[in-house]
Amino acid sequence: MEYRIDQSEKFNGKEVVLKGWVYNKRSSGSIVFLQLRDGTGFIQGVVVKSEVSENVFIDADKLTLETSVIVSGVVKEEKRSPTGYEMMVKDIQIVSLSAEYPIGKKEHGPDFLLSHRHLWLRSKRQWAIQRIRNTIINAMFTHLNNEGYIKIDAPIFTPNACEGTTTLYPVPYLPAWKEEFDKEKISMGKYNISDNDGFPFVYLSQSGQLYIEAAIFAHGKVFDFGPTFRAEKSKTRRHLTEFWMMDAEAAYVDHTENIKVQEKLVSFVVSSVLKHNLNELTMLERDIKPLENTALGNYPVITHKEAVVRLKKSNIIIGERDDFGAEAETILSKQFDRPFFIEKYPKEIKAFYMKEDSKDSTRVLNSDLLAHEGYGEIIGGSQREDDYKKLLARIREHHLNEQDFQWYLDLRKYGSVPHSGFGIGLERLVTWICKLDHLRESIPFPRMMERFNP
Ligand code: 4AD
Ligand code: MG
Repeated sequence: MEYRIDQSEKFNGKEVVLKGWVYNKRSSGSIVFLQLRDGTGFIQGVVVKSEVSENVFIDADKLTLETSVIVSGVVKEEKRSPTGYEMMVKDIQIVSLSAEYPIGKKEHGPDFLLSHRHLWLRSKRQWAIQRIRNTIINAMFTHLNNEGYIKIDAPIFTPNACEGTTTLYPVPYLPAWKEEFDKEKISMGKYNISDNDGFPFVYLSQSGQLYIEAAIFAHGKVFDFGPTFRAEKSKTRRHLTEFWMMDAEAAYVDHTENIKVQEKLVSFVVSSVLKHNLNELTMLERDIKPLENTALGNYPVITHKEAVVRLKKSNIIIGERDDFGAEAETILSKQFDRPFFIEKYPKEIKAFYMKEDSKDSTRVLNSDLLAHEGYGEIIGGSQREDDYKKLLARIREHHLNEQDFQWYLDLRKYGSVPHSGFGIGLERLVTWICKLDHLRESIPFPRMMERFNP
């Protein structure tokens, strides 16, 4: 069996071979303490001069940070170590001696770290965050599969907008072999016509929703998971220009049931993190009480109207039909001890596809799920307009191109059903679960308004 640091308990007392890197080093004359990592975790390697050959000790002494090494030694229990184990080193093979490592000597600013993201990913905190992100993705897949949802992949190149036209990223649909392209055959809606040599622009997907709506008529319950793109003008801690979203959609599910589906999913995801990542949460110094509350479910539901009243009581200036900005969401989300839903927003501030509330035609059957602890929106969802005429009227009101949405309108023509769904922003979820200050640490390579490298 191959040794893994995270399974050290299985190797207690045994001689193992660790293939990894030197994370840190400290010497005290006759002993060298190595912080070693192998991808699965961190362990201290102890090199005692009197117990290894002269060459091994010389090698141990010259190891630089991030040098790749193959280390042999005996794993033993050590109560004082954070992981409970350490390794008594017998042999060291240097795979590649690292040049002087730029990270770690002193405090670095965010810009420096982001410019070195390809290396920063190795740091303990960043390592812990990505492990948790992985658990979250797996938990979402597991839970939805258990609930009978089928994964349907939505396209990234799309001819139409899902979430408003102001944040679209146009891409010229202009391959290098354009000479072979028969322009006449390219289907072009109004939005696609351009002066781009007669070739269309397509848009990077803002959400797979509209496409997975089509798939519910084949499979009942479906979800997607993929990168989504929004040309966000604002430089906030909550917005990326490229982020990962999971959309879920189900036939014969109404607004109230939709809220329950979301609550169950988020409870499951957070329970999974508590089950698999206590070590990582400890590294991040994450207070787990708010997560334990989340795992219990029972999320409060308040209306948009009630949220406005609460904000006014907190001396926030807000109109009856306004959307909530980051500050308002932060204030509201400090008033609860677990995530909570805000439902029934004014129609005019929401997307064209949301179904009208039959009790108040000026509002829609939507909900946002806000994480507590000041984090704000993590999910946006709604019941969808399933009536052909009403949907067409909404498309026109929003000045969207009818021709581009013909296929979407078809879904209301051939066996339309009440249906609902939602989209969960992975980075928002990771940021809150890990209690990070900014979304940029939640994704391996963040893309923001002014940054798209490395
Ligand atoms: O609320 P949004 O805009 O909803 C939709 O896109 C729907 N089509 C989803 C659906 O019903 N299937 O976005 C969904 C979530 C937000 O709640 C937020 O978590 C995240 O996506 N999100 C962003 N995350 C990072 N950066 C951005 N710029 C984001 N914009 C939205
Ligand atoms: Mg939203």
